[in-house]
Amino acid sequence: MLITHENIKIRNTVPDDAEILCHWWNDGKVMAHTGFPNGLGTTKEAVLNQMQNYDNEKYRVFIIEIDSKPVGEMNYRNMSDKTAQIGIKICDFCYQDKGYGTIILKLFINTLFDDLGYEKIILDTNLKNVRAQHVYEKLGFIKQKINIDSWKDQIGNLQSSIDYALTKEKWRINYYERKRNY
Ligand SMILES: CC(C)(COP(=O)(O)OP(=O)(O)OC[C@H]1O[C@@H](n2cnc3c(N)ncnc32)[C@H](O)[C@@H]1OP(=O)(O)O)[C@@H](O)C(=O)NCCC(=O)NCCS
Repeated sequence: MLITHENIKIRNTVPDDAEILCHWWNDGKVMAHTGFPNGLGTTKEAVLNQMQNYDNEKYRVFIIEIDSKPVGEMNYRNMSDKTAQIGIKICDFCYQDKGYGTIILKLFINTLFDDLGYEKIILDTNLKNVRAQHVYEKLGFIKQKINIDSWKDQIGNLQSSIDYALTKEKWRINYYERKRNY
């Protein structure tokens, strides 16, 4: 997959990305919201091995580039029933809160619905991640369920999450009819 829009690119990972992915995934500051405040503790070799399992039909990680610089990653997982679960991390903090995440998600969602045939997109986020919740709700995601103290993070703290869903129909009403106005 390759999505380009102005200075933004969303592209498949290549082996050379293993180093930066490893760097991001081992950084506790980047990974805290996913429950790993000490980072994943992975290796470049493990990331390279993982990459071999990426498959358009099942699960794939993408690199987000802004002005040709890798600044984060995103992914989708095929959950069957034409449903994709997605995740996004703008890992370079300098690029957060500048409007990029909203645009990148719109581009990705358009591709999943229009080009890859999905009918529904789901995701979950930490209850404390109010910025992400704001962005998802702005895009039309509907809160499905709040899971209070439903899982323990890497250091044993209970965490809560929110499940969201967005149907193609809802997306179409929100954005598609506005001629994909970014
Ligand atoms: C979540 C994420 C994708 C959002 O992308 P972004 O580029 O930072 O966000 P944007 O600049 O597009 O939009 C931010 C919006 O949230 C608002 N916002 C910022 N901080 C906020 C806060 N603490 N509470 C509520 N809203 C907040 C901004 O005002 C803006 O709203 P607006 O578009 O209505 O003006 C990105 O910050 C990110 O990847 N963060 C790290 C990883 C992460 O949290 N991933 C999601 C976990 S599921």
